[in-house]
Amino acid sequence: MRFDVITIFPEYFESPLEVGALKKARERGLVEINLVNLRDFAFDKHKMVDDRPFGGGEGMVFKPEPLYRAITKLKEGKNPHVVYLSPQGRLLNQEIVRELFEKGHLVLICGRYEGIDERIREHFIDDEISIGDYVVFGGEVAALVVIEAVSRLVPGVVGKKDSVEKETFSQGLLKYPQYTRPREFMGYEVPEVLLSGDHAAIARWRRQKSLEITFRRRPDLLKKAPLSPEDKEFLKKLGWKEE
Ligand SMILES: C[S@@+](CC[C@H](N)C(=O)[O-])C[C@H]1O[C@@H](n2cnc3c(N)ncnc32)[C@H](O)[C@@H]1O
Repeated sequence: MRFDVITIFPEYFESPLEVGALKKARERGLVEINLVNLRDFAFDKHKMVDDRPFGGGEGMVFKPEPLYRAITKLKEGKNPHVVYLSPQGRLLNQEIVRELFEKGHLVLICGRYEGIDERIREHFIDDEISIGDYVVFGGEVAALVVIEAVSRLVPGVVGKKDSVEKETFSQGLLKYPQYTRPREFMGYEVPEVLLSGDHAAIARWRRQKSLEITFRRRPDLLKKAPLSPEDKEFLKKLGWKEE
């Protein structure tokens, strides 16, 4: 999986890319991350990449030419999916993460200030992605979210394939709760079934917990989740109504 990140702050990514699973994935060549300084594509001696908005108003806007030059360079001989991180984009979820993973090569454009010239958005990008209904300072944190979420799907990045497949959202549900040693903590016990060694009972308990937590916290997810007749029966006992 390859990511080209266009940013005016490449240094922003230094430590996040140098720790944990992402560092290992890069070292093993599973994930390639290329940081591109937008200023390298400015053509004036001051390396200017932004300017005042036409029509007046607050803030600065990224000029179209440096972005166009950076995108064109990154597309030479390749066919990446070009994404602008934007609060106006498609709201990121696990389904979109999978879609982005399947592209294999992403160019991620990080805006700052008032964002980027509209002509780049209209004509030179393929997709706009938002990390939530709020506004942050810049696209860098959003690019990191995309990089982390997509990289987890690259085979070999997460230890066991199983753990990615059973994660929250992967099967349309929130994940069941987890416990570790000690068996009793401040008087609170680990559910007995998890200590039973009965794998079928554990699997059933986990499935039911997943269903229950999803119903209580994110009932909207149940509309799209693949549910068996037993799942539905269990949910109905909790008060869920099939639509
Ligand atoms: C301060 S924001 C600009 C917001 C823009 N003026 C608007 O109202 O839509 C600067 C940059 O941060 C990034 N950004 C801010 N919030 C974001 C979000 N929720 N998801 C993805 N990117 C975001 C975008 O790249 C954006 O160009």
